[in-house]
Amino acid sequence: MKIGTPLSPVATRVMLLGSGELGKEVIIALQRLGVEVIAVDRYPNAPGHQVAHRAYAIDMTDPAALRALVEQENPHLIVPEIEALNTSLLAEIEAAGHTRVIPTVKAVQLTMNREGIRRLAAEELKLPTSPYAFADSLEALQGAIEAGIGYPCFIKPTMSSSGKGQSRITAPEQIASAWEHAATAGRVNQGKVIVEGQIDFDYEITLLTVRALNAQGEVETSFCEPIGHLQEKGDYIESWQPQAMSPLALKRAQEVAHSVTNSLGGLGLFGVELFVKGDQVWFSEVSPRPHDTGMVTMGSQRFSEFDLHARAILGLPVNVALSRPGASAVIYGGLDSEQLVFGNIEQALAVPESDIRLFGKPESFERRRMGVALATGDNVDEARERARKAAGLVKTHDGA
Ligand SMILES: Nc1ncnc2c1ncn2[C@@H]1O[C@H](COP(=O)(O)OP(=O)(O)O)[C@@H](O)[C@H]1O
Ligand SMILES: [Mg+2]
Repeated sequence: MKIGTPLSPVATRVMLLGSGELGKEVIIALQRLGVEVIAVDRYPNAPGHQVAHRAYAIDMTDPAALRALVEQENPHLIVPEIEALNTSLLAEIEAAGHTRVIPTVKAVQLTMNREGIRRLAAEELKLPTSPYAFADSLEALQGAIEAGIGYPCFIKPTMSSSGKGQSRITAPEQIASAWEHAATAGRVNQGKVIVEGQIDFDYEITLLTVRALNAQGEVETSFCEPIGHLQEKGDYIESWQPQAMSPLALKRAQEVAHSVTNSLGGLGLFGVELFVKGDQVWFSEVSPRPHDTGMVTMGSQRFSEFDLHARAILGLPVNVALSRPGASAVIYGGLDSEQLVFGNIEQALAVPESDIRLFGKPESFERRRMGVALATGDNVDEARERARKAAGLVKTHDGA
């Protein structure tokens, strides 16, 4: 593997499609390895824009705009950070030249839509999942729930993330509003939902799974220690590593993660979401890229999930070892503002073994994730308490 000089004709160029807080950290990891990075997002001054060699704001679902930019920049690697992309164009770009899509076009295609990845996992790979059905009308949704999905159940737009458009319902009279919520909050393909029976799990995890080349140049799969997390309305608020698991549950989780990531292929880090009850494990979904709950690894691992992704996609070997139990806690904007100010940070950072990341998003909303507190400790309980405390000590106000 060779890496050229950035900003010279021999540069190794990587283009990020989507440059939010996760993309920003991938960019920083790539910058440290001397890679030339081009950050693309839908709005100017996105977090990743602020740390890249060049930054563009375009509509990434517009094939003409995206094609023109790729031709102009001629990247060696395209790294999608978001799901709403024109994947047939990505396939064309890959077929046309020397640009590789991370991890693979197939992975991007299947994971941008809940239907693609769910059918792959449950029907092709025969992995355990929640009972599910797809519905493209209110009547079909009612029919599917009555025919066996039952209550409680989750209704989600097939194209959505971070809990957007998602409802948990417990009775028939809630179906119509759940359908309405999914139809208005989903992305791009607004006509279709997945309905899933509720899994009564003890805990849920993200198993960060890395496909990287070993010294012999063969693809090898490695697993980080499992990350436990807490979700509120489908959005993550706290995560910790390692999550304690029975040896059998861990083995099954790794088998499921291996099966899915092997099928998606390519090189890179994946966030495999799993539900666990006792020794039982269910596949939920997978991101073919760093995962928000994996931000904890910026404190808990020698190489964060972003470092691991950067190394893996460049064809470099990885080390997934945990260095110390850690936790992360989300910092919300708390208010709508375009001049948000974070205060009391000295108090937050006085918490032992704590750290923060402020993403630099130009616009804050009350429930927008604007930063994250990180902490480590002798054990997960201590780390969680510290991360929560540090996050809570950060105070926001409008500076205008
Ligand atoms: N079938 C289910 N059973 C139990 N909990 C679920 C189920 N589906 C979703 N959830 C809860 O909602 C969260 C978000 O759902 P998920 O499918 O991961 O959506 P997103 O793509 O928005 O992250 C999950 O992490 C879990 O806490
Ligand atoms: Mg999820």
